[in-house]
Amino acid sequence: MNERSSVSTRGSRRAPGPGALRAINYGIGFVRDPFAVLNNSTHRYGTIVRFGIGDRCVHLIHQPEHVQHVLLDNNRNYEKSSPFGLLKLLFGRGLLFNEGSSWFSQRRLLQPSFQPKQVAARADGITHVIGSTVDAWPRADADNINIEDDMTHLARRIIGELLFGMELPNELDVILESEDSKFAFLLGNVPLTPQNITYKAAMRRVDKTVYGIIAERRASDNESVDMLSMLMSAVDKDSGECMDDTQLRDEIVTLLFSGFDTTSRTLTWVFHALAQNPEVEAALHQELETVLQGRAPHVNDLPNLPYTQMLVKETMRMFPANAIIGRRAKADDVIDGHAIPAGSYLTISPYLAQHSAKIWDKPEHFDPLRFAPEREKTIGKFDYYPFGAGPRQCIGKGLAMMTIPLAVAMIAQRYRFTSLPGFVVEHDIKVTFQSRRGIRAKRHLRPAYDA
Ligand code: HEM
Repeated sequence: MNERSSVSTRGSRRAPGPGALRAINYGIGFVRDPFAVLNNSTHRYGTIVRFGIGDRCVHLIHQPEHVQHVLLDNNRNYEKSSPFGLLKLLFGRGLLFNEGSSWFSQRRLLQPSFQPKQVAARADGITHVIGSTVDAWPRADADNINIEDDMTHLARRIIGELLFGMELPNELDVILESEDSKFAFLLGNVPLTPQNITYKAAMRRVDKTVYGIIAERRASDNESVDMLSMLMSAVDKDSGECMDDTQLRDEIVTLLFSGFDTTSRTLTWVFHALAQNPEVEAALHQELETVLQGRAPHVNDLPNLPYTQMLVKETMRMFPANAIIGRRAKADDVIDGHAIPAGSYLTISPYLAQHSAKIWDKPEHFDPLRFAPEREKTIGKFDYYPFGAGPRQCIGKGLAMMTIPLAVAMIAQRYRFTSLPGFVVEHDIKVTFQSRRGIRAKRHLRPAYDA
């Protein structure tokens, strides 16, 4: 998977892009308004944009063939990188940032826990947690709430159930919070800054808690069926070895973060999109009422809830939780005649592809029917990839595509959200795609639930 495959860059040219000063401006602009930088720079320079300061450079790409080259055809030449390097510190050798043979054997070890059969086996537990969480929300209209708070609370309970079969201890909050400013996040990488000292102290608390849970589990005879138990008993088929506590800690922390943040953001955007598009909301309610007739959904209902699933897919097109994906070239490469020097960074943007007017008809129009079965077949693999693509594609895709539609169905049976007049939703990337100040809205009880 990770051997280098150097390509001669002779005859290739530098990709177009801003000079050093303007590149710095774009960098500063990215912190303030990342989507303006993504949109404006591609509009100005084209499908590959080079932001360079001296020898250091980042290439922004989104054209499907270019992305296919990096994530699939020549993936061996590209290693993971994240502008949010602090995450690497937090996740250690967990799957998300692991590389080479270590990544490969970990992926093989984790994969069985994410097989459809295992995912379906967790459905009842997850449905129960969603139901009990939403049942505990106030049975009254609310004039001004943050949709994000509701969805964060729910996602937290789902991930706790999934990984440990229990509520998450508060000590793990630091993993779940990407609320800090981007500056704080970036400064967290720099040794001895106050941010770095704070993060390190928080990480010590995380370690103590996660190692504590692992130790407790090892000491108990309780036959749990959660993911921690599955990971503890997973055996590498070549070496015959299980994961040691450090690796288990790294995987647990990685799964907590990757599963929680993406799920809560996606659910938030679903209900924002419904508030903005009453005809979509009406179609969803009609499907839920016809198929479920007021009862709670079961995993086996999902095939009969196609509109609910299309709604989730369209939400992930418009608001992909991972609006950008990072990579770093290990050896020289050429993309479409442009040199990609060894060591340079790549920012791949599903967001740009998924909003491209060259790929999508009226891309800014929210329309779940784009994902109706016949139409979905015509969507190219690299036109739409909210879960990434190639060997590093999201391991939790099946789980997410079960959990999120179930949660959407159960929430929408009970509540609807309407936009708060005057509240402006500002798109931002703080690790994942979110709204800068949350999404304030009114929450209404559905009549059937009110009765
Ligand atoms: C809406 C939900 C989700 C979205 C949009 C999403 C998106 C993604 C994307 C785009 C990647 C690829 C990143 C890259 O190529 O650099 C990824 C990887 C990953 N995701 Fe997800 N994810 C979601 C849910 C989950 C869940 C529920 C879990 C587990 C509980 C999870 C665990 C992971 C892990 C471990 C990786 C790294 C896989 C590897 O490198 O082998 N994700 N996810």
